[in-house]
Amino acid sequence: MLDGRRVLLVISGGIAAYKSLELIRRLKDRGADIRCVMTANAQNFVTPLAVQTLSGNKVFADTFSLTDEHEIGHITLARDCDLVVVAPATANLLAKMAHGLADDLASTALLVTDKPILVAPAMNFRMWGHPATRANMATLKERGVHAVGPNAGMLAEGESGLGRMAEPAEILAAVEGLLSSGPLRGLKALVTSGPTFEPIDPVRFIGNRSSGKQGHAIASALARLGAEVTLITGPVKLPDPPDMKVVHVETAREMLGAALGCLPVDIAVCAAAVADWTVSNASKEKRKKDPNGPPPAIELAANPDILATLSEKGSARPRLVVGFAAETENLLTHARAKLERKGCDWIVANDVSPSSGTFGSDFNTVHLITQGGVEDWPRIAKADVAERLAWKIADSVKGKP
Ligand code: C5P
Repeated sequence: MLDGRRVLLVISGGIAAYKSLELIRRLKDRGADIRCVMTANAQNFVTPLAVQTLSGNKVFADTFSLTDEHEIGHITLARDCDLVVVAPATANLLAKMAHGLADDLASTALLVTDKPILVAPAMNFRMWGHPATRANMATLKERGVHAVGPNAGMLAEGESGLGRMAEPAEILAAVEGLLSSGPLRGLKALVTSGPTFEPIDPVRFIGNRSSGKQGHAIASALARLGAEVTLITGPVKLPDPPDMKVVHVETAREMLGAALGCLPVDIAVCAAAVADWTVSNASKEKRKKDPNGPPPAIELAANPDILATLSEKGSARPRLVVGFAAETENLLTHARAKLERKGCDWIVANDVSPSSGTFGSDFNTVHLITQGGVEDWPRIAKADVAERLAWKIADSVKGKP
């Protein structure tokens, strides 16, 4: 809940401004007190009256309104809150923030606030991908500005790409993550996610199928509960989740090195689909096809097992080590054997047979295997699996030495 937490919502001028109305409703439902600042352009997309009616508070739009200055100055407005949320954050407003411009109330408030800022960018995918916007976002992130989204999908102009504002539920989750004290506050977690790629030569590799959706969602859920998360990810098409350190790796050895570099941590969740083998005769140059000869032989060597290594770390062992078992048959038998063999505390078992439709999907059907037995979870969204697992983890590590 956000009871009594004060959010200053800055609405800038993009079509996604209509979603801000839903965001206001959701924030109010959670008990937050919301004041809104609208840019002049935002008022072309949604009316101040709608924003005022939903927020239950006067809407601020003009820096030099005498009554507003009398009742509440722009400095007070920008500082008398727990969090500033910018949704939608247009390319223009992000640029102004990055460069310290203050030519209207919204940009002035953003320059003068001493509170954390969360931006939800929304724009055409070409604007999002433009080097200027990339540089502005990098500057803002370096200054500690938090970001949620944008998401990929169909944009208002009929083109598709990365640029859709995050959904109100996602922005709300990010707000809750930043404002709640969270049961995992003060604890460190590492999450591995995605596949690993093992090079055959500089252009070819062997790898596992994995979208990284489940591992990334778990990292986000742990962060929302207050954990300080390091996400170690193999090559995926997903954007880096906000509010955590993200380490990009390619091979299993790099993933192990990054994981060991994070220790000590309280919680480790190994959701990566690590390649079991590396190519021991990988070539430094691209292998040439010989049309008359046999195909080249690939020699394999076992990769290190990151989950097993973390589970046997002695005094540096995380308090809770969670592994995954993706199986295509005899799911629970294989998963139980894996729990024993790898020495982890829990195994999340999921059926990845082609008929399950799990790969790349947003849904998952899992079974949680602990020393206490097996819990069968229904088919739910990967984000919900992550949320449920994160709360289980929080319940388990609370009070565990
Ligand atoms: O042995 P298998 O790959 O089925 O085990 C799956 C579990 O072990 C997952 O949690 C996966 O992240 C982890 N694992 C690992 N390092 C490996 C192989 C698997 O951490 N080399």
